[in-house]
Amino acid sequence: MSEPKKLYIKTYGCQMNVYDSERMAETLGGQGYVETKSPDDADMILLNTCHIREKAAEKIYSELGRFKGLKTEKPDLKIGVAGCVAQAEGEEIMRRQPIVDLVVGPQSYHRLPEMEAKTRTGAKALDTDFPEEDKFEKLKNRPKAKRGPTAFLTVQEGCDKFCAFCVVPYTRGAEVSRPADRILREANDLVERGVREITLLGQNVNAYHGAGPNGDMTLAGLIWELNKVDGLERIRFTTSHPNDMADDLIEAHGTCDKLMPYLHLPVQSGSDRILKRMNRSHTAESYLRLIERIRAARPDIVMSGDFIVGFPEETEEDFQATMDLVEEVKYGYAYSFKYSTRPGTPAAERSQVDPKAADDRLQRLQGLITRHQREIQDAMVGRDVKVLFEKPGRLPGQMVGKSEYLHSVHVSDADVAVGELRDVRIMSSGANSLAGALR
Ligand code: 5AD
Ligand code: SF4
Repeated sequence: MSEPKKLYIKTYGCQMNVYDSERMAETLGGQGYVETKSPDDADMILLNTCHIREKAAEKIYSELGRFKGLKTEKPDLKIGVAGCVAQAEGEEIMRRQPIVDLVVGPQSYHRLPEMEAKTRTGAKALDTDFPEEDKFEKLKNRPKAKRGPTAFLTVQEGCDKFCAFCVVPYTRGAEVSRPADRILREANDLVERGVREITLLGQNVNAYHGAGPNGDMTLAGLIWELNKVDGLERIRFTTSHPNDMADDLIEAHGTCDKLMPYLHLPVQSGSDRILKRMNRSHTAESYLRLIERIRAARPDIVMSGDFIVGFPEETEEDFQATMDLVEEVKYGYAYSFKYSTRPGTPAAERSQVDPKAADDRLQRLQGLITRHQREIQDAMVGRDVKVLFEKPGRLPGQMVGKSEYLHSVHVSDADVAVGELRDVRIMSSGANSLAGALR
């Protein structure tokens, strides 16, 4: 038997890229590839890239530059770029960096086997189509090997919202939902392989409307189906849009026992004027009322969000409105970014905020978010939570897992195995994690 070829994949960006990288590795497994942790002994290097903010593409070019020496030493080494930078830049990548053999967009990676074969003939392979066929159906069946207790599962891809700052509708394409039976089959397979928590993924996951047995299904409908899967203990989903937060989904947060009390619901800004200019089609007030309803359904839910500061034309007053909204919601987690111009998006043409002012706003916002984050985490001390143990900790005998609220919890001298779900009393709160004891 010939030696397996080695594949090194580096993943940038969001959780969907993590999922896509798994699927690409599995697909190339069919071509005789096994994964390696180092680019040095690889026969193929694949960078699965992100285009959401500036410098992402530049980072990829400098990373590619570092592989030049390797390629000279090993001319048979194939180098590929996948993901959203591949989609956005296409052929330009091969022009700027001739060591690149293959460029594949997020909607065409089921074609990797043919593309890889083409590169073996010495030709370059490029595919940034948005093909009609269902990528997931064309991909090889997933392997049966045991795996860790948590997994991502893409249920919906693409976005039709066209927020004025965002490249996603261009790189991931129009919104498409996978049929429910395929998702359930994949979820059952994951559970057979040891998975106990599934995070459903989509750029607009709560807009899910996949075909079900009796017409289209909502995300809540899908969650209720998953709730019946024996051996699956926890369900999460991300990322949601406020406008698609349907009544049945809010209600599920109060009634569906496997659905975890954590919700990532980006608002981006607290200023109605800016929200309008962002094309968000909701107001700060409608967002706050929505959160009230979610909290009425599930009072202990931990909220998470995304913010952009320094969006074109943002004034100090607009920014204060964002601070006020954050003060009112109190997020358990929140991710804030300085606006980054994305060529081809509507906001790119508008008058930019002074970068110093934007930096200053980002610092103030992050300070407030960190304070709330810490308060919410500290308030867990003395409470009992359920922890799904994921891996050994840094110290001998220590085990680490996540609570239902997504807080990292570590337990010392814990007689538990990876994949166990146990009651834990929280004893103290550190910088980024909680310490607890088994009950
Ligand atoms: N600049 C800064 N942040 C952005 N995001 C999306 N596009 C941009 C941009 N051009 C942020 C949004 C989104 C998160 C994934 O990334 O907050 O919710
Ligand atoms: Fe981008 Fe807006 Fe779509 Fe989210 S909803 S992916 S921010 S366009």
